[in-house]
Parts: sequence; C-alpha cells; structure tokens
Amino acid sequence: MFGLSPTGAVWCAYLAASMEAEMALEKFIINGGRRLTGTVQISGAKNSALPILAAALLTDEPCTFSNVPDLADIRAMTDLLGDLGAEVFREDREAKANGNGDEPSGDGSLKICVTDESDSHAKYERVRKMRASISVLGPLLAKRGKARVSMPGGCAIGSRPVNLHLRGLQALGAKIELDGGDIVATAKRLKGAEIFLGGPFGSTVLGTANVMSAATLAKGTTLIESAACEPEVVDLADCLNSMGAKISGAGSPRIIIEGVDQLAGANHEVIPDRIEAGTFLIASAITNGDVHLANCRLDHLMAVIDKLREVGVIVEKSNGGATVSSARRLEPTDATTQPFPGFPTDLQAQLMSLLCLSDGNSAITEKVFPDRFMHVAELLRMGANIRKEGPTTIVTGVKHLVGAPVMASDLRASAALVLAGLVAKGTTTISRVYHIDRGYERIEAKLAALGADIQRAADN
Ligand code: EPZ
Repeated sequence: MFGLSPTGAVWCAYLAASMEAEMALEKFIINGGRRLTGTVQISGAKNSALPILAAALLTDEPCTFSNVPDLADIRAMTDLLGDLGAEVFREDREAKANGNGDEPSGDGSLKICVTDESDSHAKYERVRKMRASISVLGPLLAKRGKARVSMPGGCAIGSRPVNLHLRGLQALGAKIELDGGDIVATAKRLKGAEIFLGGPFGSTVLGTANVMSAATLAKGTTLIESAACEPEVVDLADCLNSMGAKISGAGSPRIIIEGVDQLAGANHEVIPDRIEAGTFLIASAITNGDVHLANCRLDHLMAVIDKLREVGVIVEKSNGGATVSSARRLEPTDATTQPFPGFPTDLQAQLMSLLCLSDGNSAITEKVFPDRFMHVAELLRMGANIRKEGPTTIVTGVKHLVGAPVMASDLRASAALVLAGLVAKGTTTISRVYHIDRGYERIEAKLAALGADIQRAADN
C-alpha cells in the first residue's frame, strides 16, 4: 500500500476490522462545487485535552475542564480514567440523558476526581483504540509509584515508538520493564534529573507531556532539553501550574520543573484546536470561500497562514478569530512538515488536497512521520496527479477533481478527503468516517452550516 510497510498494512487492516466489528459503520456523501461562506466555531483542542485529562491522575482533588471537545478519543480517555479509579462527569449530557427535556444545565465541562488508586493498569483493550492513552504513564508513575500501560501498537501514519517517553521516565529514576506487551514502571519517588528528549525526528509532544507531568511530583528539579514547543505542551504546563506545579520555559525547547510534594485540583479551559482551525482555513480556500473562524488562535497558526498567503489565500485577523477568502486559482508551493512552530504534520494531507488544484507543481516533504501518505492513493482515485519520491511527494495541479468512493484510513487523511470532496465534480462517498469522529466534532454539521452539501449515512 502506498508508503506503508507490509506488516503495517496488515496491522491496519486487522485493527480496522476489529474496531469496525464494534461500531455501526457510517459514511459521508458529499456533492462538490459549493462555495463555503459564513462563520464556524472552532472547538477545544483534542491534542491538548488528552494529556490534560490524564493529569487529573496527579491529584486527589476534583478537576474541572472546560472547552473539552465531544470526540471519540476524549470518550476513550475518560473511559480509561474510569478504569484507573477516576469518577468522570460531563455536565450537560446528564440533563439530556434523563430525558426530562430541560435545557442542558451546564457548560459541557468535564469533572474528574480520582477516588480509588487500586488499579493502575491501562489495558490493551483501551490503549489499542487510542495511542494517546500512553499519556497516563507519567502521571500514574509519579502519583502512585507504579503504572502498567499496554505498549501502543502499529499506526496507519507510520512507526511511532515510545522509547523517548521511557528514556525520560528512567532518567527520573523509574524502573521500567516490558511484560506481556505492557510497560511496567515503578519508582518509590521520582527524582529530578537533566534529560535530553530529542529524537531522530526532533522533539516528541506526548513524550514531553509525560515526562513534564511526572516531574511535577519528583524530588528536586528536572530540566528537559529538546522539549516539544507545541501550544498543547504550553496549555498542559499552564494547567499543571494552576494545580500548584512549578514549571517554567514551556513553549521553548528547555523546560524546568521544580518538583512539589502534591498538587491541588484544576479548573482549566482547554485552548482552541489549531488543527481543526487549519482544516477549516483550507476548506474555505479550496472552495474559494469566504469564512470567518470564531474562537481560533492565529498565533498558533503562523506557519499555516504564511503558507496559505503564499499560494494566494487572504487570511485576516477579525473579531477574535480569522476571516479567510480566496477568489482565484491558487499558486503551487513547497512545504516541509516540522515540529512547532514549523508547518504541522497534522495539516500535511489537507494542504495536499488544496495543492492538487493549484496552478503548477508543489513539493510536500513529510519530516515528522515519513510514511504519512495514506491519503495519496485515495486522492489519485479522485483524479489528482501526485508522485512520491521518498518522504517527498510532487503534486501537479489539475483543473478539477472528480467525485469517487474513497476510504478513510486515519484522522487527518480522512479530513483531506472531505476537503477534496467539497470541490470535486460530482459525488464523493467516504467510508469509515469513524476515523474523522476521533478528532473533529460534528464536522459535517459545521460544513453544512457553511453551505456544503454533505451528509452522514449508514454504510451497510
Ligand atoms: C502528537 O503525537 C499528536 N497526537 C499527533 O497528532 C501529531 O501528529 C504529533 O504529536 C506530531 O505533532 C496527540 O497529541 C494526541 P511525537 P505524538 O511523539 O506525541 C518520533 C492527530 O492527528 N518518536 O511528537 O505521539 C515519532 O515516531 C495526531 O491528532 C520517537 O522516535 O508524536 C515521530 O516520528 C496524529 N520516539 C516523531 O518522534 C518516541 O518515543 C514525533 O512524534 C516518541 C516519538
């Protein structure tokens, strides 16, 4: 399969088949050619919320998290926290569930409180559904002195080892073994240390989150060098500091954490989702639309906006968000994915869909996940002109794309197919949309509200 090792392909097929057996399959049906206009509200950031929810394991006190998106991955994390002894409550859903027809009572915030620390095992059944479950490893180890977390398996976007996570926790004094596919970590009390966390593809986001979270309860001071600088790491550090941690330097490659004996509860609002925002910026551009994004942080999207302006898209700051418009065939460009503040790998596929319609040749190089090209074969089915040379793809712009039945494979590749379907001639059907529901809150409703002809249907 395009860009994926044979075993990876088998693993994806097996994983997809076993997950599909457990859910009602759905598809999107998109009739292309509609220009998007209007306002879209950007949701809270999945990749910020996940390690922040895991941080609730660091305290015995109640935590309240607001602006947490309603996504499959968030539900997977709260299910896991439930296994690990946390009580989890989401305000508004309760009102509806009681069927009393009253308006939702709350603001949708999530309330989490750990009441039982007897079970510290994050089991395979949970972890195989969501790799980010690894985020509980550091908090469990730091708070309880022990953790047993299933080692995450294969992934559609390429090899994703966790060696840097383990190296960081071992530097803090943890004893780590592998047993029956589980990571087994123990430590009486972690000790502050100097840790270099850089890897072959640069920094690690969840690795930084795991080690930084663990170091908050370590004895002494920890220095993390080559830490990830993503806004999600800063949001986690802000949340931990509001719980009484002493973290400085988050957002830079050097983070210092002075350990404390205990942490208080949290009351934290999660940042807006820059990847969802980037996806809607490109959705407007690919349809030559005129869309206002409400509740998005432009300072988290500088590399993306720079690239869009380069190809001829107009992006302006407005009313606490951005307005994006374009009214002509776009220019080609070259792009290379990098850790933040570089161009995000999670928008590589969506940018490729846009450049499929540009006026010339573009080169896209994937430097974070070199095999992350599952979307290419599906875009070729829609009439795109793309060839691969190692971690680089050459995209030659075509006059138009054509609707076709295509298959979602991973979260961002699927979003790229939705964008291609919005502009393709005719009808596109995208199956396995559960991949999209992992990271986009009601994407079809948001797009339809902007004028897209998109609907969700059972895929039987
Ligand atoms: C986070 O994954 C995001 N996930 C990913 O978004 C995102 O693509 C990625 O960061 C990069 O921005 C969440 O936050 C839940 P990494 P993470 O560790 O932390 C290598 C999405 O679409 N590496 O920063 O798992 C790794 O293989 C998802 O929302 C090691 O070699 O990514 C990769 O090449 C997909 N050893 C690079 O580093 C390690 O121990 C960056 O990975 C860890 C990572």
